[in-house]
Amino acid sequence: MDRREKLMARARQGYRLAYGAEPTHFFAAPGRVNLIGEHVDYNDGYVLPCAIDREAIVALGPADRDDPVPRFEAVALDMGEMASARDSFDLVGPIRQGENNWQNHVRGVIQALGRYGHRVKPARIAIAGDVPIGAGLSSSAAFGVAVALACSEHSGLGLSPTMLAKVAQIAENDFVGCACGIMDQMASAASVADHALLLDCRTLEHMPIPVHPSLAITVIDTGIRRSLTESAFNQRRAECEAVAAHFGLKALRDLDWATLEAAQDSLDPTLYRRARHVVGEIQRVEPVGTALAQGDTALLAEVMREAHLSLSADFDVSLPQIDRLAALIAEGLDDAGGVRLTGAGFGGCLVAVTAHDAAPVIEAAVALYNTGADLPARTETFRPISGAAAIRID
Ligand code: GLA
Repeated sequence: MDRREKLMARARQGYRLAYGAEPTHFFAAPGRVNLIGEHVDYNDGYVLPCAIDREAIVALGPADRDDPVPRFEAVALDMGEMASARDSFDLVGPIRQGENNWQNHVRGVIQALGRYGHRVKPARIAIAGDVPIGAGLSSSAAFGVAVALACSEHSGLGLSPTMLAKVAQIAENDFVGCACGIMDQMASAASVADHALLLDCRTLEHMPIPVHPSLAITVIDTGIRRSLTESAFNQRRAECEAVAAHFGLKALRDLDWATLEAAQDSLDPTLYRRARHVVGEIQRVEPVGTALAQGDTALLAEVMREAHLSLSADFDVSLPQIDRLAALIAEGLDDAGGVRLTGAGFGGCLVAVTAHDAAPVIEAAVALYNTGADLPARTETFRPISGAAAIRID
């Protein structure tokens, strides 16, 4: 059994145990790793994530025929702190928030669909997943997009990847309480295998960028966990919005260097640094896209080094031990590829985009780091897979 078959078997088993019946359909949505464009999506900029071969799987079947009310039932398995748990709510009237995060991802998706005028048909689902939770690899987006796709297909809505992403994002914003942007959900919904996804977060136009076959994408998990709903993420977003408002702009995407530099003295120093990160980071997306397509590891090394520094010194989302790990890896790699913090930060993972044969260099740097670390870091290499889809079962 491959990884996905094991996940499907788990979802199927969970479904059977919960409902005493067989699921009829399966849907999958992947996690993602962001290669460049960090903390840029909610500033309307460009980002370049790619889906990874870790997914959330939804097993779905019809509702209980004897139930007098139209009801949606869900059970979540293997969700770490989300634990195996059940939820059940009727589909008549407004959907209310549930007791915990995973319930709100499901309920939030159904209420978001309602906002667009879509009615979800009664169903039962079981969800299993293998996207590491809290690592910055978007387990939440995978979960939300998989549920959105399952609801869409089951209810005959035929929603586009962009609409699935929007619905999953609204669920997180409104029901889970995280002011996340749209990047993770779009990566999960719209990615193409062996490509990264260049996304304009203002228009949601997107284009697959090939990952050169000579390149490997390695994630180095620091083991340090955080929760995205923590106030720090929402605070960064509010800071960015404050700078945009200061300049009378819709979003920081519309700010240029000259205007920012000219206003340095009139801006709060923290807000100035936040804006400097965002303006610089948006400009780094194009060179990384080019380097990715051409397999230019020296360019990746240079731009990703700048990006990490900016996240650490200007956006304040790194930690001293993460900076140390990034520096050790970058030093080992030299021109063989780049490494930087990925995702929201405050813990989580580094991503390295390197020549395939650079793997031993990364391992050596991680081993050196681990000799003095409280928590050991681990590396894993991911394959860019395609976005959310129904799984054919024959
Ligand atoms: C989290 C959010 C995204 C994005 C990143 C930072 O993953 O969910 O919307 O803001 O952080 O780039």
